[in-house]
Amino acid sequence: MNVLIQGAEIISKGKREIKDILISNGKISEIGNISPGDGWEVHDGNGLLAIPGGIDVHTHFQMDVSDSLSTVDDFLSGTRAAICGGTTTIIDFAEVSKGEPLIKGIHDWDKKSSNRSYCDYSYHMTIIEFTENTEEQIVEVIERGIKSFKIYMAYKDILQLEDENIYRVLNIAKKLNVRVSFHCENGDLVKGITENLLANGKNKPKYHGISRPNLVEKEAISRILDIAKIMDVSVYIVHLSTKEGLEVIKNARLNGVDVVAETCIQYLLLDESYYEKDNGINYILSPPLRSREDIDAMWEGIKNNDIEVMATDHCSFKLEDKKIGMNNFSKVPNGLPGVEERIKLLYTYGVYEEKISLEKMVELISTNPAKIFGLYPKKGTISIGSDGDIVLINPNITSKITKESHNSLCDYNPYENYEVKCEITKVFLRGELVVEKNYLTNNTCTGKFLSRN
Ligand code: URP
Ligand code: ZN
Ligand code: ZN
Repeated sequence: MNVLIQGAEIISKGKREIKDILISNGKISEIGNISPGDGWEVHDGNGLLAIPGGIDVHTHFQMDVSDSLSTVDDFLSGTRAAICGGTTTIIDFAEVSKGEPLIKGIHDWDKKSSNRSYCDYSYHMTIIEFTENTEEQIVEVIERGIKSFKIYMAYKDILQLEDENIYRVLNIAKKLNVRVSFHCENGDLVKGITENLLANGKNKPKYHGISRPNLVEKEAISRILDIAKIMDVSVYIVHLSTKEGLEVIKNARLNGVDVVAETCIQYLLLDESYYEKDNGINYILSPPLRSREDIDAMWEGIKNNDIEVMATDHCSFKLEDKKIGMNNFSKVPNGLPGVEERIKLLYTYGVYEEKISLEKMVELISTNPAKIFGLYPKKGTISIGSDGDIVLINPNITSKITKESHNSLCDYNPYENYEVKCEITKVFLRGELVVEKNYLTNNTCTGKFLSRN
C-alpha cells in the first residue's frame, strides 16, 4: 500500500521544506519530488504543514482514584481525543495498589488498552512502595518493553514514596539503565498545610492552590536533584509549573546534574485566577495553576531549551465527580483534560503568537519525547524508515474549543471558548488516514503497543 502526501511543508529535524512524502506499508519510504504511481492513495498537502505525529508522554486513561471513581476518559475515548488532536502516540501510567506486583499493573493496562486504542501507546510503570521483590519486579516490567518508571513525591499516605525508597529505586534504575520520572511536590508539607487550612474552615476549592505553594514544588525538585547529584543518575521532572522549580533545574544542570524537564499545556496558558471563579473546582489539579509570572517563566524555559517536553497530564473527571469536594477541596479528584487540545493550543499561543518557532513546537511535542523515551527514530521524525505518522495542519482555519465539539467524554473543557488558529486536517497512523478535520474516519482501533528501547 502506497500513500503519497504531495506538496505539504514538512517540519522535522529542525528544518522546514516543501516536499512530497511517500509512505509504503506504513513506513516513510521516500521524501522528495515524487510522481504518483498506479493505485496509490494521493493526498494534496498544498498550503498545509506536515509534522511528525504528536507524542504525549503523560496521560492517565481509566485511572482509578478509588473503588467507585475513575477518570472519565478510558483508552477508547482518551486515544480518540489524542489522535483527533494530532497525537499519534501516548505513554500512559500503569499503576498497582500497595501489595500487588508491578507486572499486574502491566497486565491491567493491557486489558484497558488492547483493541481499545486509536493511537499507538506504551506505559510508564508507577512505583508506590519498595519491597524486597521490587528489583525483580522492575526487571519483569523492563522485559515487557517498558523502560520508564514514575515516582510520586506527593500524595502522602497514598502514592508518595519516601526518600530512602526513592534512593533504593534509583539505585536499581541506574544499574538497569532505565529512566525514572518524578512528580515533585513535598507531600508531607501539603498534608500539613491542608490539615491546617481545613481546621480553620478554609475548605473551598480556591484553597487548593494555597495548599500547594510554589516552594512545595521547588523543595521537592531541589531534593530530587540533590539525590540525583549524589547518586550520579539522570532524572525526569514531570509537569514543572513554577519559576522557582525552573531556577533549581537550571542551577543543578550547571552543577552537572542530568535532568530532563517537562511542562504541560495548562501551565503555559491557565493561571491561578480560575480558582476565584464559580467553576474553580473544575481546575483542581496538582501542581495547581500558578501565577502569570510562572507562566512567563515556563515560556522562557521552553525558549531557552531548559524545558524539553510539553505534555498534558490528561486526567479527566466529570463535573459531578469533581463536586464531591465542594466543601473540602482535598477530596476533589485531581486533574484536567488536554490531550486533544495540546497541539492546537501550542500552535496558536506559541507559534502563531510568535513565542516559539514551528521547529521548536515539533521538538517539544514529538521529537524530544521520542528521543527521551526510546521511540526515536521510529517515532518523532519525518525520516525515511520512520513510521508514517504524519499530521497535516491547516494554519488558515480558526475555530473555538468547546465541550460540545471535543472527542473526550469529559463534560467540560478547561479551554472552553479558547480560539485556535489551526485545524488538524488529516492524521495518518502508520500510513493510514485515521482522522479528517478533527474527527475519526472510522471506528477501528488500530493503535499498537510500543515496546521501547
Ligand atoms: O492533578 C493531577 N495532575 N492528576 C494526575 C496525577 C498526577 O499527579 O500526575
Ligand atoms: Zn503528577
Ligand atoms: Zn500525571
